[in-house]
Amino acid sequence: MTDVSKQRLLLATRNAHKTREVREILGGGWIVEDLSVLPGLAEVEETGETFEDNAKLKALAASPHYEGWVLADDSGLEVDALGGAPGVRSARFAGDNADMAANRALLLEKLREVRGQERRGRFRCVLALAKDGEVVRTFSGSVEGFITPAERGSGGFGYDSLFIPEGSCRTFAEFTSQQKHSCSHRGRALAQAAAFLRQL
Ligand code: IMP
Repeated sequence: MTDVSKQRLLLATRNAHKTREVREILGGGWIVEDLSVLPGLAEVEETGETFEDNAKLKALAASPHYEGWVLADDSGLEVDALGGAPGVRSARFAGDNADMAANRALLLEKLREVRGQERRGRFRCVLALAKDGEVVRTFSGSVEGFITPAERGSGGFGYDSLFIPEGSCRTFAEFTSQQKHSCSHRGRALAQAAAFLRQL
């Protein structure tokens, strides 16, 4: 039976790490489904040039097939010394079929000669909220930091083991989930989205 005291939304992703983080950040008042409830929905080509473009593409692809709120997350890591790369290509940095180990190895290789402040970067997250086939609002969050010279930590996912948020000496992969969410790009964007949905 559906619990009517909870808000329900679809996170338009097949990335289990994103689903886990969104569930952890939103907490018990929400039922967060993901694209496992729409197994036939085709993969969206992320052809946008910005996180916002891609978040909208993903939200618009799923929304007509889901009754209620759809939230899509497009996110990634920007590194100043690489002109903002990997950016929107964060998941495909080392090639369309590359895994995250290859993406991290390529990032370290490209930054081999880069020192100190030059290793500055940030995670960005844009969330697009859609309903009835239309994007209603977008929300964004970012966190500044530095790229480590080698991987550290075993928590998190993606580039977490290479990212030290400003003011810390640990990577996101050395944080607990709650510590990461309290300052992460996704935590910040989602706090705004949740506040928006609550006041409706
Ligand atoms: P997309 O949003 O599906 O294009 O993929 C985002 C990619 O950015 C992920 O596959 C990760 O490589 C990276 N990314 C996004 N958010 C995080 C995060 O919180 N930690 C580490 N890597 C992330």
